[in-house]
Amino acid sequence: MTATKGLEGIVATTSSVSSIVDGVLTYRGYDIDDLAENASFEEVAYLLWFGKLPNASELEQLKKDLNANASVPDAVIQQLKLYPKNTNSMAALRTAVSSLALYDEEANDMSRESNVRKAIKLQAQLPAIVAAFARIREGKEPVAPKADAGSIAENFLYMLTGEQPNKIAIEALEKALVLHADHELNASTFAARVTVATLSDIYSGVTSAIGALKGPLHGGANEAVMAMLEEIGTIDNVESYVQNKLANKEKLMGFGHRVYKNGDPRAKHLQKMSQELGKITGNLNWYEMSIKIEDIVTGQKGLKPNVDFYSASVYTSLEIPRDLFTPIFAISRTSGWTAHILEQYENNRLIRPRAEYTGPATQKYVPIEKR
Ligand code: CMC
Repeated sequence: MTATKGLEGIVATTSSVSSIVDGVLTYRGYDIDDLAENASFEEVAYLLWFGKLPNASELEQLKKDLNANASVPDAVIQQLKLYPKNTNSMAALRTAVSSLALYDEEANDMSRESNVRKAIKLQAQLPAIVAAFARIREGKEPVAPKADAGSIAENFLYMLTGEQPNKIAIEALEKALVLHADHELNASTFAARVTVATLSDIYSGVTSAIGALKGPLHGGANEAVMAMLEEIGTIDNVESYVQNKLANKEKLMGFGHRVYKNGDPRAKHLQKMSQELGKITGNLNWYEMSIKIEDIVTGQKGLKPNVDFYSASVYTSLEIPRDLFTPIFAISRTSGWTAHILEQYENNRLIRPRAEYTGPATQKYVPIEKR
């Protein structure tokens, strides 16, 4: 038995949710470029869950269901108030999502109908948890979700600020949510599938996924990119900062990808948004710094930006605090995680690979007094 480090190139399951072939990402056969330009996040979530684009009444019903389920149980809100003030935002989300199961009477109902209901509930409640956490740590009261919100993007920004967001902000966040919704067998989705393949419940699957997304090699990279931009500060410092990193063989966050070697198809959309939002806010500093970093890293190392690179400056232009970037990724990816969980349940087999043993050869137990 020979191990493949990081399971690179291993095909671990079949899936009809999304695919990456020759650098092209599709959700259920629809090119991400097409969806990014035309679809709402709710249409994409419906597509991922049910395998087809919704018609007008199906979409209307989904939006109603999302609005109706957006309130988080009060007990979970009260718990958020008890978390230490400096709690990591992804740790808070992971803990709160895990505890949602305690207040859902059908948490352990394994029927498809119940799991679809819970997927919608999770999708509706994650934005409310993230917004409530952000407000509570600032000493503010959470804002209840709008009952008639036009979209998750609108409701999230509303719950975060307590004010009706403008159209530009809603549209930008909407597009970011579409771009992050699913990504084949990425680490967090795999974690979710491994968890539910034991026939554990959907909340356990999403909790595992949030834990996996948190790391800087996965979803945590978007926050790390913004930390880097802030550390660099101005465009004049870019060259020396990047050269130093490259010389020290340190990783530059937001670059590289296990699957895409010729560029991440999502990055160009976020780059465009970053520029457009920079123009609107009158602050192109982050965008211009990002472009310069890309020129150097791609020019010298051949590494291209991934989805996380320009999302950092996009979210900053929307005045979203840096440590909410990865939770926003989680809000979007909940659609993909839960679609994969439903698919795993439909055709389940325990996921249990093997390990190539590299420990000591057979040893004999030595009594403690002789060690
Ligand atoms: N900066 C500098 N060098 C890099 C980078 C980078 N960001 N990414 C890869 N490399 C180099 C790496 O050092 C290695 O070089 P060498 O062969 O000389 O040792 C080579 O490229 C292959 O890298 P790897 O780490 O073996 O590649 P991987 O497929 O295991 O990792 C990755 C993929 C995304 C974890 C990695 O590119 C990385 O750490 N990037 C930075 C973190 C990041 O942006 N993550 C977000 C990923 S995309 C969105 C998501 O899934 O959340």
